[in-house]
Amino acid sequence: MPGDKSISHRALMFGLLAVGETRISGLLEGEDVMRTAAAIRLLGGDAVRSAAGEWRVRGVGIGGLRTPEDILYMGNSGTSARLLAGLVSGHPIFAAFSGDASLNRRPMARIVEPLSRMGAQFAGQTGHRLPMTVTGADPVLPIEYQLPVASAQTKSAILLAGLNSRGDTIVIEPEPTRDHTEIMLRHMGADIQVETLPGGGRRIRLSGQPELRPALFQVPGDPSSAAFLLVAALITPGSQITLTDVGLNPLRTGIFDCLQEMGANLSFSNRRDLGGEPVADITAKAGPLRAITPPPERAPSMIDEYPVLAIAAACAQGRSEFRGLAELRVKESDRLAAMAAGLMACGVNVQELPDGLIIEGRGGQDRPIPGGGHIATRMDHRIAMSFLVAGLAAERAVTVDDSVMIDTSFPGFRTLMNGLGARIEPVSPS
Ligand code: S3P
Repeated sequence: MPGDKSISHRALMFGLLAVGETRISGLLEGEDVMRTAAAIRLLGGDAVRSAAGEWRVRGVGIGGLRTPEDILYMGNSGTSARLLAGLVSGHPIFAAFSGDASLNRRPMARIVEPLSRMGAQFAGQTGHRLPMTVTGADPVLPIEYQLPVASAQTKSAILLAGLNSRGDTIVIEPEPTRDHTEIMLRHMGADIQVETLPGGGRRIRLSGQPELRPALFQVPGDPSSAAFLLVAALITPGSQITLTDVGLNPLRTGIFDCLQEMGANLSFSNRRDLGGEPVADITAKAGPLRAITPPPERAPSMIDEYPVLAIAAACAQGRSEFRGLAELRVKESDRLAAMAAGLMACGVNVQELPDGLIIEGRGGQDRPIPGGGHIATRMDHRIAMSFLVAGLAAERAVTVDDSVMIDTSFPGFRTLMNGLGARIEPVSPS
């Protein structure tokens, strides 16, 4: 499996914040992570590849970042933009951020608001969107901040700025979100205390100005990428695949719970620990699936997996209801609109709700979805991969308008899928 995208970004960024050399193996070499690597160099560090997935980062230490000599171009990557804006905010430097058309549409108010309270200043022509400049805080004020929306990116941006504050930075999240930042920074020597709150949320306290030790990071396989292959196997009669070293951080595994509740034949073996994160090998065997209504509070643990879960739901028996997903409208695309339009184009009955989807499953295995749709992928890698997976269970081929974005998170997707028996082919110009 390709390396975990969230952990790969963080390994590079946190390496920059240690004095000395951080070594990374299994780094995801997708475009998003390469944007982070390029930014690391512009901020004064270095990131060097020695072999496939093997990287070394020369860090400059907390407080050591320099003003970049060029714009930080973030491409399609929200994680790069938001976490690096946090890092810049915590240093007395200046940086300009820009991205592609998809990223430049995404909301940045969620980081601008808390980071401004910490003393950073933001300017841009288009409100709280990229392109945008950031003037870092000097000094960095410690804050206590309650996240209005559960977001690991926002939490991480605040914690990264807080690393260079003299006091304690506190983030309260309404629901737990992926905690790779906390795990990895603690591993490097930061003092981070996490308290679970009565309603299930979390209070995270970071003591400022730790000395971070360079680390050795082994990046597990990305559960978000694994989800595409697992659903592909589940909906293709006769299939069985095993994926090795898939990350199973409990704040990322909502998709596996959902698939199992749908009756999917998934089994986990060889459970172990890889660099502080649980991993396992996962085997999926095709079989009938039942509809599902995932509890909305599960959303943060599978926020990127709803598009491919929608494909599984389309192939299942019964009516699935996804709710509590307004956040999906501000991902790489409006994923609720993109999935609803795409499923409809493939002959699946679907209703788009303000915060979710209702999907009438076609009944599975012996009742394929009609397919034949031409899908607008809207610069969104996960929409493209989801509908290519849907093609496996479709009577007529499914066509996506663009597959270039897949390289942001899953380089080699097409070759891998075709190696497993899929037929994904470029459409010849008519
Ligand atoms: C990510 C957090 C999630 C997720 C994104 C990666 C991260 O975003 O959708 O793909 O690495 O922290 P939000 O924090 O905006 O929910």
